[in-house]
Amino acid sequence: MYWMRCPNYEGLKELGLEGKEIVYNNNYKSWIFNHHFFNQAILSPKFTNEVIDWTNELFSELESYWDKLLLKEKISKENKIKLDLIEWFSHYTTDMINKMLTGKRSYSMAAYFNTISDEKFDNQSARVEDSEKLFQSIHKIHIGYFFFFIVPPFLRHYVPFFKNIANDILQNIGFANQKLDTIIKKRRKEIEDTSLNEPLPHDMLTSMIIKNTFRDGNYIETDEGNRSMTDSEIRVNLFDGISNGTSKIVNMLSFIIYHIAHNPNVKKKMLEEIDSIFQGKMRPITKDDFYSLKYCEAIVKEAVRIFPIVHLNTRYIDKPSEIAGYQWPAGTFFIINVGVIHNKDDYWEEPNKFNPDRWMDENFEPKKNSFIMFGEGLRLCPGRKLAMIELVCLMALLFRKYEINLVDMNSPIKTKSDDIVISCVKLLVKIELRN
Ligand code: HEM
Repeated sequence: MYWMRCPNYEGLKELGLEGKEIVYNNNYKSWIFNHHFFNQAILSPKFTNEVIDWTNELFSELESYWDKLLLKEKISKENKIKLDLIEWFSHYTTDMINKMLTGKRSYSMAAYFNTISDEKFDNQSARVEDSEKLFQSIHKIHIGYFFFFIVPPFLRHYVPFFKNIANDILQNIGFANQKLDTIIKKRRKEIEDTSLNEPLPHDMLTSMIIKNTFRDGNYIETDEGNRSMTDSEIRVNLFDGISNGTSKIVNMLSFIIYHIAHNPNVKKKMLEEIDSIFQGKMRPITKDDFYSLKYCEAIVKEAVRIFPIVHLNTRYIDKPSEIAGYQWPAGTFFIINVGVIHNKDDYWEEPNKFNPDRWMDENFEPKKNSFIMFGEGLRLCPGRKLAMIELVCLMALLFRKYEINLVDMNSPIKTKSDDIVISCVKLLVKIELRN
C-alpha cells in the first residue's frame, strides 16, 4: 500500500528522470506501465533459460582466463594464483547483464584480462573499450542519483566542488543516452529485418521493443492503454536494469565467498551437494541443477541475512497515514533498517550465527517481513530470479572446479557504502584447481 520509495526531488528533473523509469518513479500510472514491461521481460521462463545458457558460456570464458593464468604460474612456481575477486566478478556480471538486457556481447572480462596478462585476448579492442566506457558511465550515474538526492540545488549549481561532480554526472548521462539510443535503434532495425517465422532472442531489449506490437506472440489490436514502448522509455528501463543488476550481484558473491572461507563445515556440505549433482563431470549447468542446489541457495540467503548488502530501504508517504499504531503526517520519509531486522533475536534464533541449515528445514518460514533481501510489496525487486540464478549457478561452477581460499584469513572484509548498498572494496583470494 505504501509504494513510493522517496519524494520527488529537484535533482530527478535535472537528471531527466522525473515521472519516468521504475526505481524513482512516483507517477503511479507511468510506474505501473514500466514495471509491467520490465517484469514481463525478465521474469519469463524463456529469459530464465537464456540466463542459464549464458552463465555456461561466460563461465567457460572466465575459466579460460583463469586456466591461462594458472598455467603460467605452474611453469614459474606453484599451482596457485592470487586474484582480486571484486575485479573479476565486476567484469563477469557486466558481461552477463549486457548480454541478458541488451542482447549485445560486451568484452569486459577480456578487457580486464588484457590489463593483467602479457597474453592478450584477440583484437576486439575498439568494441571492448566502447562497452567498458558505457558501463563505467552507467555506474557513475547510478551513484549520481544519490548525489542529486542529498546535495541541494544551491550547492550543485554554485559551489565549484559540487558543481564539478554534478556536471560530470550530467555529461555521463549524455554519453550513456546516446550509446543506448544507438543500441535500441540498431535492434529495432534487426527485428524489422528478421522474417516473421524466424525466432527472436529473449533479451530484455528485444522483449520491450516487440511487446504490444504484431511481433509479440500475444498481440491483440491495441488501444492507447495497451501501447508499445518508445525508445526513450526503453532506454531508462535498460538503464535501471544495468545499474541495479551488476554491483549487487558482485557484492553478494564476494560476501558469499568470504563466509564460505570462514565456515569450513558449510564449505564441506556445499561441496558434497555440488559433487553429488555433477558427479565430477565438467558438463554445463542446467535448470534442473539450479533447482537441486538447495544448500547453495541456503548459503546465499544466509549470507544476505547476516549481512544485507542493501542495508537500507525507504518508503515515502504523500498523505497522512496511520502506520504501526502511530499517526504520520504527509511527507514522512521512512528509512527501513534492513540490517537490524535481519539480525534481531525477536525474529531469528542465534541471529549472529552463520547457519545456512536454518533454511534447509522444510517447515522453516521466516517471520513475516523479517527477511527482506529483495524488499517487499509492490516494489519488490524484479531482478530477484535473475539474481538467484546467477548467484547459485556461479557458486556451483566455481567450487566444482576451483579451490578458493582467502589470502588473509585474519582481516575483516573491506567494505564501503556510497548509497544504500554496502560494497566490498577488494577480496584477494588464492585459486587452485580442485583435486
Ligand atoms: C542480489 C542481487 C539483488 C538484490 C539484493 C536486490 C535488492 C533489491 C531491493 C532491496 C530492492 C528494493 C525493493 C523495495 O523497495 O521493496 C530492489 C529493487 C529493484 N531491483 Fe533489485 N536486487 C538485486 C538484483 C537485481 C537485478 C539483477 C536487477 C535487474 C536486472 C534488479 C532490478 C531492480 C529494480 C528495477 C528495482 C526497482 C523496482 C521498483 O521500484 O519497482 N535488481 N532490488
